[in-house]
Amino acid sequence: MPARSIEQVRNLCKRRGFVFPGSAAYGGLGSFWDYGPLGTEMLNNVKRAWWRDVVYKRDDVEGLDAAILMSRKVWQHSGHEATFSDPLVDNKKTGKRYRLDHLLRAQNQAVLTSIIAQVRAIVGDYLDHLLGSLRYEIARNDPSLGFEYELLAHASGPGAELVTLLPTVSLSRAGMELLADFCAREVLDLSDEYRIAVLATAQVVDPAVDEPGAWTAPRHFNLMFESHVGPVESEPGTEEELASRVYLRPETAQGIFMNFAHVQRSMARKVPFGIAQIGKAFRNEITPGNFIFRTREFEQMEIEFFIKPPQFVREGEKNDAQWHDEWIKQRYEWWTGLGIDSARLRQREQSADELAHYSKRTVDLEYLFPEFGWGEVEGIANRTDYDLTAHSRDIPAEDLARLKLEPNTDSVEKFDYFDPDVKARYIPWVIEPSAGATRAMLAFLCEAYHEELTKDPPAAEVDAIKAEIPAVIKNAQKKQKDAEKESDPAQRKHDPAAIEAFCAALEEAATRLPQSLLEIDALLAEHPGAQNLEPVKKLQPKVNKLAEDCARVVLKLHPALAPIKLAVFPLKKNKPELVDIARRIAQTYQPHFRTVYDDSAGIGRLYRRQDEIGTPWCVTVDFQTLEDNTVTVRERDSMQQQRINLEQLRDHFFTRLHV
Ligand code: GAP
Repeated sequence: MPARSIEQVRNLCKRRGFVFPGSAAYGGLGSFWDYGPLGTEMLNNVKRAWWRDVVYKRDDVEGLDAAILMSRKVWQHSGHEATFSDPLVDNKKTGKRYRLDHLLRAQNQAVLTSIIAQVRAIVGDYLDHLLGSLRYEIARNDPSLGFEYELLAHASGPGAELVTLLPTVSLSRAGMELLADFCAREVLDLSDEYRIAVLATAQVVDPAVDEPGAWTAPRHFNLMFESHVGPVESEPGTEEELASRVYLRPETAQGIFMNFAHVQRSMARKVPFGIAQIGKAFRNEITPGNFIFRTREFEQMEIEFFIKPPQFVREGEKNDAQWHDEWIKQRYEWWTGLGIDSARLRQREQSADELAHYSKRTVDLEYLFPEFGWGEVEGIANRTDYDLTAHSRDIPAEDLARLKLEPNTDSVEKFDYFDPDVKARYIPWVIEPSAGATRAMLAFLCEAYHEELTKDPPAAEVDAIKAEIPAVIKNAQKKQKDAEKESDPAQRKHDPAAIEAFCAALEEAATRLPQSLLEIDALLAEHPGAQNLEPVKKLQPKVNKLAEDCARVVLKLHPALAPIKLAVFPLKKNKPELVDIARRIAQTYQPHFRTVYDDSAGIGRLYRRQDEIGTPWCVTVDFQTLEDNTVTVRERDSMQQQRINLEQLRDHFFTRLHV
């Protein structure tokens, strides 16, 4: 089974040098992470696997590495300066800030019903039209919301009907989320004065304190980080400040659009062709979190694939919808080819309301993460000719109207292309597969993480552990009660809620022994203060010993993604003849892929250490090697060992490394 919690993966990442919190010596900086020795290897491998798939394996894609900082005009004409924002609302009582849709998702049905009733009172019958669109959205995207669909379809005046029906029914979680997002959109469409009044009348609750907040008017907050080129002394918004303002790019895509003509001409490319780029992107996310899932600095892997506009597509050629479908399929296969189980990877059609301003259709690839569930790892969008047109001068009025664009008088380019096949000039359309490299790394880690038994532990020892756990829980609960007696939380030696969670987790894990040996070991070792409990002092060494003997953490990463491909050990470190051969084997492979030599522990422990970081192969040099030139190759997932002649090692690894 893959990881059960993000915490498991985060702990492993910290312990084994994959990912560390950034600026840790100064208490960290909100959701910035540093990639350690193994994390750097793995992230590079993810990017390499992507590049190999979308550039090397194809005849129609070129690579690019554009500057992070670009003219502010790029972001004005791309639409990001005006629209790349999140709706935020503050509770004046607590100082807490929320994204409006997230806040409303945390409300109960009565609050949402009140919002709908108020919106109806303000916008009147127009609400019926909006609810009609919501029904259409359900029908198109989520047939599991049949009940909500019926509810909305129920009467001729669904707005009024919904307000009377809602208090009488109980919506599913997905239904509630749908309604909350709908409410968020409609509130944002109201004027400031109404926004404040609607939230106040509905008594929207602040989840931090579980009581109604004093809410400000929800406002859009731009997610782009600003900086300046050259020294600036003027106030924000002045002509001088605006002239030097730049943004850290929130997507790598615009760098590709800026270079469409350069690449097309310099590489003599004919449409269809694509440009691929990997690079950093920055977003001042309001709610970063879930480890490296949503961060403010991350890496993207994006392709802009330029195709003929629909009116020029000839018989037998793919149109934009077909190119789009083909890219969705190819990208899906990339993820599964690298080990993501299709049970945890789905395609999700974005609803009309979710679509970015440039998109005709977007399909997200979502991975089923532990704890927080489905999360987007890649979006594949049909961006039409929006971007290249937006950055071009001299665009005919009908095209500007079609794309809802203003004439661009800043640009000196027209990003059109003469197509020799159809003997016409046009602005190409674009299909954009856009994946997060850092987010991909998290998905691959979650998928690969396994805790498993390597052999059956003796029943008597398991029973002994089971028998001692109630004493640990009893002792911990006593500490919890003592902590609760202390009325000033600052004076408490222990956090009662944390102890309660520890006891619940331990009790539950005990029911799954012996499979949960490693979990119990981690709980006892990592829960703050557990080490001071007398029963834990007695129990932990036993759990630890049994876990070491009979269980392992293993990252079942595809060999192409594994940070270290090969670990070489001598059976005995005090036998120079074995050490020499082992070192020589390591040196042979070091120039080709990450290979390490290790003799710092017994072979069993060395295997465990490599399993935990996903090393697919361990080679052991022993006395038989001296006789017949063979070594033991131990395979990580099956733990099987076979003897292979040194001459054949190279083929053994190379054929298994490629994707
Ligand atoms: N050019 C299109 C674009 O940027 P997006 O859906 O906003 O589209 C594409 O981002 C991918 O970038 C996402 O699927 C995700 O994998 C990654 N991504 C976006 N925001 C992220 C964040 N704050 N942290 C980590 N990865 C992120």
